[in-house]
Amino acid sequence: MIPLNNQPKTLIDPMGRSITYLRVSLTAKCNLRCSYCYGTGKDNSISSDHLSTTDVIRLIEVFASLGINKIRFTGGEPLMRRDIVDLVRRTAKMEGINQIGLTTNGLVLEPLLPSLIEAGLNCLNISLDTLKRETFRQITGSDGFDRVYSAIISAEECGTFKRVKVNTVVMRGINDEEVRQFTLWALERRIDLRFIEFMPTQQSGWDKSRLVNEDMIKDLIGLDLEPVKGNDNSPGPASSYTLPGAPGRISFISTISHNFCGRCNRLRLTSTGQLVGCLFLNQPADLKKMLAEVDDIKDIAEQIRDIVARPGFRRPPQELPVIGFNPFMRKVGG
Ligand code: 5AD
Repeated sequence: MIPLNNQPKTLIDPMGRSITYLRVSLTAKCNLRCSYCYGTGKDNSISSDHLSTTDVIRLIEVFASLGINKIRFTGGEPLMRRDIVDLVRRTAKMEGINQIGLTTNGLVLEPLLPSLIEAGLNCLNISLDTLKRETFRQITGSDGFDRVYSAIISAEECGTFKRVKVNTVVMRGINDEEVRQFTLWALERRIDLRFIEFMPTQQSGWDKSRLVNEDMIKDLIGLDLEPVKGNDNSPGPASSYTLPGAPGRISFISTISHNFCGRCNRLRLTSTGQLVGCLFLNQPADLKKMLAEVDDIKDIAEQIRDIVARPGFRRPPQELPVIGFNPFMRKVGG
């Protein structure tokens, strides 16, 4: 084994992809019941035994020492954790971490926004699948449309975020007819609207007839959108478009019709402390157990390096999307 001092600071997987981004699911619980994610909500493998504040911070410290520069808190609904502001604040103080994101359904976001920003939050993704109150209720089982919408507008207007990202899962017969209107709404705001292909995750009620792929979405938008320059090589799954002079952007996250594994720069930590190398592989590594057994942060870092180097932990880039994968998004982190 190479001595730790001589290790490169960046985590690099056996396929040469450097890993700079960690998504941290803080809880599998959620205060919405979105049809494409929550399903019946019954799953015995969902544990309420989430990582403590101390363990989350300790693990983020280890990852920062391994060259991770971006952390995103997700869930479930991460704002259901009472320590969320504290977690953001402590993460923001860590050397090497320069981006701190949050993926939220926005339901309880607005009153928390000033403290989250003050604590150091600088990237924000809010899920909103429709601009219609009734459709929102149908998808999420909640009357919270106005609260979520108002949180998006506040976040946009406060000026902290270059663009507020809005995640929209497109489903045939549910919200596909809104795609054009949604696009026009986003383009005139400092919003990056991300149309996400509906994935066959566990309990999502997915069937192929509900899938509206990127090409179909572009047809429904019916505008001459221009690719954002320099975006092709950016890490991450989104490809972005805009119209000249428009502040907003439209992006596509097309897990089904496009393969972006070659650009994958991320790892995921589940709320119970399992490290996941790929959304579509089931080879988690138990970091909670490791924390209980290993004291020295350098030894934990070394073991994580070994996990990332394991064959089968990260999916090779050239493979096409697998049919039959079905991660449980609430657990792994949506
Ligand atoms: N298909 C696509 N995206 C999903 N998400 C959750 N479930 C699915 C699914 N079946 C993602 C969406 C949502 C975030 C919380 O998780 O992006 O906005």
